[in-house]
Amino acid sequence: MNAVELENFNTWYGQDPVLQDINISFNNNSITAIVGPSGCGKTTLLRSINRTAELEKGFTCQGDIRVLRTPIYQIKELSTVRRQVGMVYQTPVALPLSIRENVLFGPRYYGVKQRSQLDNIVESCLRKVALWDEVKDRLKHPADKLSGGQKQRLAMARVLAVEPQVLLLDEPCSSLDPASTGLIEELLEELARELCIIIVTHNLSQARRIARETIFMLDGRVVESGATAAIFAAPGNDKTRGFVSGLYG
Ligand SMILES: Nc1ncnc2c1ncn2[C@@H]1O[C@H](COP(=O)(O)OP(=O)(O)OP(=O)(O)O)[C@@H](O)[C@H]1O
Ligand SMILES: [Mg+2]
Repeated sequence: MNAVELENFNTWYGQDPVLQDINISFNNNSITAIVGPSGCGKTTLLRSINRTAELEKGFTCQGDIRVLRTPIYQIKELSTVRRQVGMVYQTPVALPLSIRENVLFGPRYYGVKQRSQLDNIVESCLRKVALWDEVKDRLKHPADKLSGGQKQRLAMARVLAVEPQVLLLDEPCSSLDPASTGLIEELLEELARELCIIIVTHNLSQARRIARETIFMLDGRVVESGATAAIFAAPGNDKTRGFVSGLYG
């Protein structure tokens, strides 16, 4: 099943077109990588899928995005979309709260109050991101003391705590060391059993390692998309071939 579908989707910042005529879909229970040179519109695409792009001054869009078949640009209640579609950013951000309260930020916002339920959310989400054993004895400590890799796993736990169906990640490993990167990649493969995962990465080896599908973008357009192995081994387009062989980007 397609968890996310974009149909004739276009965006602008002021008069400047960014995304142009995007027609793509993203499978459930799968990791899709989006690759392409800097400025081609990858972040704008992700932020269009959770409706945060429109927070930017001058942003406009046309066309449709459907998340689990619901056209999200017709929804008035934005918190529904942002709950279904979680996003993890490039720089690991811990809220200025304890480790426990970082995980509970979303659930508290959505009204979960029962102590036992909150405890369960903290433990299960921290276990899902393989952080529980590292932090279980200091849940009340400030989260900003954690390492970069730990903060990024905590950011994932915070997003998972509201049970999204789609997880967007914008270069989540670009500031992490190889060990933390490996850990996050393992987690994503595990999470893809339950979720639609869309990851923007500048690391082509990472796309090859973890993504079942890859989308190559250039100048706001999708040039090519398909099975990752095919995109890298036998690209159908000269521009894709140039990019995956490191000629530019
Ligand atoms: N808030 C904004 N206002 C105006 N233009 C913007 C804004 N954000 C992005 N842009 C422009 O939109 C285009 C696409 O930017 P975007 O951040 O989506 O690219 P990207 O592929 O994520 O790049 P990178 O790989 O460097 O992160 C760029 O030309 C950028 O300058
Ligand atoms: Mg970007």
